[in-house]
Amino acid sequence: MMALLEAQDLARHYKVSRGPFAQAATLRAVDGASFALEKGQTLAVVGESGCGKSTLARMVTMIEPPTSGKLSIAGARVDGASLATLKSLRPNVQMVFQNPYGSLNPRQKVGAILEEPLTVNTAFAKARRIEKVRDMMAAVGLRPEHYDRYPHMFSGGQRQRIAVARALMLEPELLVLDEPVSALDISIQAQVLNLLAELQRNLNLAYLFISHDLAVVRHIADEVMVMYLGRVVEQGPAADIFAHPLHPYTQALLSATPRADPLAQRNRVVLKGELPSPLKPPSGCAFHPRCALATDICLNTAPSLRQINASKVACHHAEANSG
Ligand SMILES: Nc1ncnc2c1ncn2[C@@H]1O[C@H](COP(=O)(O)OP(=O)(O)O)[C@@H](O)[C@H]1O
Ligand SMILES: [Mg+2]
Repeated sequence: MMALLEAQDLARHYKVSRGPFAQAATLRAVDGASFALEKGQTLAVVGESGCGKSTLARMVTMIEPPTSGKLSIAGARVDGASLATLKSLRPNVQMVFQNPYGSLNPRQKVGAILEEPLTVNTAFAKARRIEKVRDMMAAVGLRPEHYDRYPHMFSGGQRQRIAVARALMLEPELLVLDEPVSALDISIQAQVLNLLAELQRNLNLAYLFISHDLAVVRHIADEVMVMYLGRVVEQGPAADIFAHPLHPYTQALLSATPRADPLAQRNRVVLKGELPSPLKPPSGCAFHPRCALATDICLNTAPSLRQINASKVACHHAEANSG
């Protein structure tokens, strides 16, 4: 079966100026990610700020082209594609951002915000457009009277419902959600996550779900991909990643999330040190300065991703770590 979204060695590098007398440096924002996402499934992309998550999102939504690697959506190649091909693919991939206030026009009422994608991309008559807007409002839990209200009249959670509704107006198969609940209160996060899960079931949507917080994706992810400084360090089925994380970085991310069980807190792995500059990543395994398991090989040799049980992991000591 052909995956809806497929990436092979996908990379995006930026040339960054370091001042008038220095040579431009290359920042490897995403450096060789391979993954596949089937219809109706969720791939979660997780890692600290700056690891390349939003850059990956911009490639998948065709806002930026990859520097190298292959990317295909519904069987059509995105890398190297003509503008006409990109234009035909774009309606099928929609994005939801962390801050819906920034992405919703404050001068448009909800009805107009949701109608706009239909006006621009379809030949539906006015009455049909309004009917579709009303149906979508109901599907995301907005009330009929919200049609004539402005974004600022809503709470953060409801604004995110509006952003999700707008993203769904053109009936995409893939939603790229970049930190969709990170700006919301914990209690509201659960409501929006439940809505996303319900919409996914009803519409057979695929989600590329980005979060800096591994705990947020626990119930919605089918697959998890953990990134560190632009590289994938661990990826695999969510059940395996959560039950038996193999990479010390994944283990640290997981133990950083609060648990109900106070005994479990004793096994906390604390990340030491700061995130290094992505312009000057550490030698060997880029995680080694923060890793309790690091040995000579980690300083000198970058570990490649290799299969261990159901997951792939880039760590020289993953076996020692899996017990
Ligand atoms: N247009 C750009 N030019 C130069 N560097 C960029 C650009 N966009 C992102 N970066 C850098 O790429 C790295 C990854 O950024 P980003 O994808 O936004 O990470 P995340 O979303 O995980 O926080 C960061 O070091 C960031 O500063
Ligand atoms: Mg980001």
